[in-house]
Amino acid sequence: MENEVNANTEDTVLQLTDIKKSFGNFEVLKDVNLKVKKGETVVLLGKSGTGKSVILKCIIGLEQQTSGTIQIFGKEFTDLKDDEENVFKRKIGFLFQSGALYDSMTVRQNLEFPVIRQPDYKKEDLTESVEEALNNVGLLDAIDKFPSELSGGMKKRIALARTLMLKPEIILYDEPTTGLDPVTSNEISHLILDMQKKLNVTSLIVTHDIPCTHLVADRIVVLKEGTFTAEGSYEDLAKSEDDFVRGFFEFE
Ligand SMILES: Nc1ncnc2c1ncn2[C@@H]1O[C@H](COP(=O)(O)OP(=O)(O)OP(=O)(O)O)[C@@H](O)[C@H]1O
Ligand SMILES: [Mg+2]
Repeated sequence: MENEVNANTEDTVLQLTDIKKSFGNFEVLKDVNLKVKKGETVVLLGKSGTGKSVILKCIIGLEQQTSGTIQIFGKEFTDLKDDEENVFKRKIGFLFQSGALYDSMTVRQNLEFPVIRQPDYKKEDLTESVEEALNNVGLLDAIDKFPSELSGGMKKRIALARTLMLKPEIILYDEPTTGLDPVTSNEISHLILDMQKKLNVTSLIVTHDIPCTHLVADRIVVLKEGTFTAEGSYEDLAKSEDDFVRGFFEFE
């Protein structure tokens, strides 16, 4: 029994406990609890402006929760020493809502950037890692292009390749397909699925894209009024008796 409990704890790579977050008097997150297991893909649904991006930002430390704890691989950022913090941060990749490539850098330079900031990077391996990451997203041909020469979908894929450069174990995606046509969205969704299969990454994905959700989600959580109001598989939630929850799935 004790072993089972231990195995269970090791299995959880990301855990949010009793998270609250306010901006001034405005309480965005009231009571957020979530456990994500290694290799699991969790999709976070919720209406615009309800705190989905804020949850992701708290996880990577871009925002500080007002109260509650966030554990990644069983540790809180606040418990870490400076040198541990860097090693730890590398385990988490974040794909920003905007993609956020550096316009003045080529694709190659964009991908090299997070790596050359690491104190222990190996210069001789750099070209190979850049090419591998670009191959993973099917865009090796774009290596010497500037972001202005790329389409929206290509930028998202390059941003994903850049996230992969530090070989993260957890990837947080903020609306990876928003603003893209259905075909490109579908390509990105398949890429996310590939990452999970090839690299066994753990993913937390904020999206409004229901076909993407259907393809990638092992589990879905629905944010409403600062807390998760529903949780389950696609099939469960799509036939939920709660109109609010079912509303996300009635897109056709
Ligand atoms: N730094 C900040 N200062 C003040 N308020 C903020 C800040 N960041 C977010 N908010 C507020 O918190 C709320 C949730 O924002 P968030 O960006 O998480 O929404 P979201 O669910 O990601 O929406 P969308 O689907 O439109 O991206 C919004 O009302 C927003 O105005
Ligand atoms: Mg957002």
